[in-house]
Amino acid sequence: MAHIQSRPNWLISEAEVTPEDAFINRRSILCGFGLGALSVAATAGAPSFARAAGDPTADLYPAKRNGSYVIDRDLTPEEINETYNNFYEFGSHKQIWKAAQNLVIRPWDIEVGGLIEEPFTIGFDDLVRKLPLEERLYRHRCVEAWSMTIPWTGFSLASLVAFAKPLSSAKFVRFETFLDPEMAPGQKQVWYPWPYVEGVTMAEAANDLAFMVTGAYGKPLAKQFGAPIRLALPWKYGFKSIKSIRKITFTDEQPKSFWEQILPEEYGFWANVNPGVPHPRWRQDQEKVLHTGTYVQTQMFNGYSEQVAHLYKGLEKEPLYR
Ligand code: MTE
Repeated sequence: MAHIQSRPNWLISEAEVTPEDAFINRRSILCGFGLGALSVAATAGAPSFARAAGDPTADLYPAKRNGSYVIDRDLTPEEINETYNNFYEFGSHKQIWKAAQNLVIRPWDIEVGGLIEEPFTIGFDDLVRKLPLEERLYRHRCVEAWSMTIPWTGFSLASLVAFAKPLSSAKFVRFETFLDPEMAPGQKQVWYPWPYVEGVTMAEAANDLAFMVTGAYGKPLAKQFGAPIRLALPWKYGFKSIKSIRKITFTDEQPKSFWEQILPEEYGFWANVNPGVPHPRWRQDQEKVLHTGTYVQTQMFNGYSEQVAHLYKGLEKEPLYR
């Protein structure tokens, strides 16, 4: 880590943060320490994003809710969710929503390539009309031990995979975010391996739960959520759910994700939620429900065991839970 000039707060351990620091350093407060301050801090001056107006895909929302994906928790209010985000391209703290409004989301071409029949580039507005949109209520669990419940709109990753026509030699899907340090000043921070990269196995990509998100709360996606298109993998820690995807590559090599490149001893490829395996800086048996401030027990695979546990049979030797 010798190249790190000034450590981002992601790298600051909870043990290093004294209560006094937490009081004066809002960045630490908002990074999983002293979240009690959240309801005041995060909603003060909360924006109202009139994003349906003028969006070329506005007519697609709200999409019909798929009743197979409802859950036993209240939804996180939109104004909490849209003012508390991780999007390091726009800053290493939680209140990036204002800075993220600089994200230019049109035109937005997505390059699809690697081990597929014929590599292609497609405009987001084209793609979103080719695949069936639906709304799903999903849990969202960050490795920092906070959680939300979100009404996402999008299409299954499986439908995108079918559309891309991968070859049988493809073993993984690799996703990459945009790279534009002028637009996203976080990308000027040289200790990060930009652009943000994530990946899943083909079996994970084929699982029903893997969801390409284009909207939330019945509207096109707000910029801070990772507009115009991001991933949602609700059984994994939130960092796997890459935002603002520009490039999708089918490959036979396991992708090395952004956080794995930075801290491989803490963040791996699999990152499945497991309450029994603590992270070095956050216990994982409980999570703070952001909008209530209460703690609840974290569930295996974030409550999605039935849908995904079978994916990991025979892989027990892999570091499945970080
Ligand atoms: N994608 C990009 N491109 N950049 C990021 O910094 N942060 C990740 C993930 N996807 C991130 C990203 C992390 S750490 C989390 S917890 C979730 O996005 C946060 O999503 P949210 O802001 O919608 O809650």
